[in-house]
Amino acid sequence: MVLTMEWKQGTLVLLDQTKLPLQVEWVSCSDYRRVIRAIRDMEVRGAPAIGAAAAYAMVLGWRQCAAGAGKAVAPAALLERYRAVKEELDAARPTAVNLAWATNLMYRAAEKGTADHCSCADLDARLEQLARHVYEQDIAVNKKMGENGAACVPDKAVILTHCNAGALATCGWGTALGVIRTAWGQGRVERIYSDETRPLLQGARLTVWELMQDKIPVTVITDNMAAWVMKTKGVNMVITGADRIVRNGDTANKIGTYGVALLAKAHGIPFYVAAPASTFDFGLAEGSRIPIEQREPDEVRRFCGNYSAPPDADVFNPAFDVTPASLITGIITEYGVLRPPYSESIQALQAKVLKEEMDSWKA
Ligand code: MRU
Repeated sequence: MVLTMEWKQGTLVLLDQTKLPLQVEWVSCSDYRRVIRAIRDMEVRGAPAIGAAAAYAMVLGWRQCAAGAGKAVAPAALLERYRAVKEELDAARPTAVNLAWATNLMYRAAEKGTADHCSCADLDARLEQLARHVYEQDIAVNKKMGENGAACVPDKAVILTHCNAGALATCGWGTALGVIRTAWGQGRVERIYSDETRPLLQGARLTVWELMQDKIPVTVITDNMAAWVMKTKGVNMVITGADRIVRNGDTANKIGTYGVALLAKAHGIPFYVAAPASTFDFGLAEGSRIPIEQREPDEVRRFCGNYSAPPDADVFNPAFDVTPASLITGIITEYGVLRPPYSESIQALQAKVLKEEMDSWKA
């Protein structure tokens, strides 16, 4: 399985996804601000991978706060600085809610440790353990999602996917590609069509690379071929990941996903989203409230390093769009497959998540 990140003796080592598929290079982060840069520049990307990297960045951030304050300082005095670390991290990429989910978890653990009068060293160990737990849980959750989602995959499946929601976008196995991997293991997948996913080509560079490593048959197409491929190549399922799912089921994912969902509807093809509970934003009622990250104009003006548009062309470059819940056949989670009406199935999911959270705080 492709490795996205590793925690090595206090350093977060990230696979540099901007260099794939031509070079396999790693970046070492021993400063939380280096992780912020890696998230912003998309050396690490994909909502769950960003969340896990942010959890480790919170460990680094705690250590940096503690080192800056000197040995005698009590954890309570560090919390304010630690809050600033969290806020800096949260701002790195605003759409993927897994980022704030992970930093919240870490911050709340520091708050609790402080309330319990832990020493700085004990708190440090607790935070490191929690970050490792976030990382390991993500892989376990993806495997569970794979099992739940494989039941939705038709026999002789010809599946279209967008962007990269694979091992590279997570801590391992993947969300949408995790479902595909599990179904492939059951002998039910014939072929995957991967949209190249302009402007940064996560589909062509990452999904195709990742699936080829596992010898899963994959064909890359340009984004504007999706409709024709659906019509002529027997596509019988579309599956994507998600960056944020709100209470009514509206789902933010890589720009272009909305168009793919509309095309799937027009061709009568089921459109599934695969995402862990950490990708749900139970605080937002509907999709128009999701903050959409706008990125550098040159990502659109340039292609593979060269200008493909006038260097001063006006550009609109939203990194994500929002697919309305009405276009989504089912949302595959580690708790099962949610079906419409999503306002009800997501409320039930929230109740399960809250219960588990309360049980874990009690333990
Ligand atoms: O901009 P990116 O590459 O971080 O966008 C990634 C996506 O949109 C993925 O589909 C999403 O994060 C789900 S990853 C399991």
